[in-house]
Amino acid sequence: MTALGIFWWVIFPYVCLTLLVAGSVWRWRTDQFGWTSRTSTLHEHKLLRWGSPLFHYGILFVAAGHVLGLLIPKSWTEAVGMPQTFYHLMATVAGVSAGTATVIGLLLLVYRRYTVKGVRHATTRNDVFMYVLLSLPVALGMTATVLHQVLGGEHGYDYRETISPWLRGILTFRPDASLMSDVPLAFQLHVIAAFLLFAVWPFTRLVHFFSAPVAYPTRPYIVYRRRDAAEPVRRPNRGWEPVPGSTPVEPVASRGRQTDL
Ligand code: HEM
Repeated sequence: MTALGIFWWVIFPYVCLTLLVAGSVWRWRTDQFGWTSRTSTLHEHKLLRWGSPLFHYGILFVAAGHVLGLLIPKSWTEAVGMPQTFYHLMATVAGVSAGTATVIGLLLLVYRRYTVKGVRHATTRNDVFMYVLLSLPVALGMTATVLHQVLGGEHGYDYRETISPWLRGILTFRPDASLMSDVPLAFQLHVIAAFLLFAVWPFTRLVHFFSAPVAYPTRPYIVYRRRDAAEPVRRPNRGWEPVPGSTPVEPVASRGRQTDL
């Protein structure tokens, strides 16, 4: 393996993953108030209503496909009787559909950012930098998929013999750079762009991924009640009466606990 190969397929990925983990811890400890997607929904919501779900659902399905294709060994799918031709067809149809939704969503979000004045003014240099680094792996992933999986013949390029074991080697601290040496250039560039994105992730608004409101559908409701103007503010009935003759003392913590709006 050449020194360049060792750099790109061993050193570079570990530097990026270290920045991802250490950077996220640092950002959480130093900037919890800045830990946000910095939503711009108040500026405009018509384009956002389409662009945001297309992008987010698209990228979630792309990510699920990556987990299946990269982390599950080929021997496992073969053991349950799934031939490579079938896997390739499923992965390509699902991947291209999810990738297309991601690309359309991303284009809509970028278009909105440039054409809607309020959103443009709320866009920082960090956001532009993030959008460029986010677009790169998406565009290169789509390019590699179309070139090698869609137009690449019946079986396509079998990345489960090279890229997938290489990534598992990285994640289990047994890196084997030689697995990546003959991988088509579009896939190599895609992987490098993806790791570059992981490296800058904690320093951008992408941190909101780590605090996605996954518990939202099951959390208890927050009840807002409008106060009836005619009804006087009542103290809650505590279920006990003060001892006759004593001066009732209101516990400090319970004062002003009016939940009505
Ligand atoms: C931020 C990270 C990444 C993004 C945004 C991303 C995006 C994409 C997109 C949009 C596609 C085309 C649609 C699809 O097939 O799902 C794709 C395909 C692919 N990506 Fe990634 N990717 C990322 C990380 C990675 C990493 C880390 C690897 C490997 C180490 C990788 C390997 C692949 C492979 C092998 C395909 C082809 C899948 C197929 O056609 O079955 N990607 N990626």
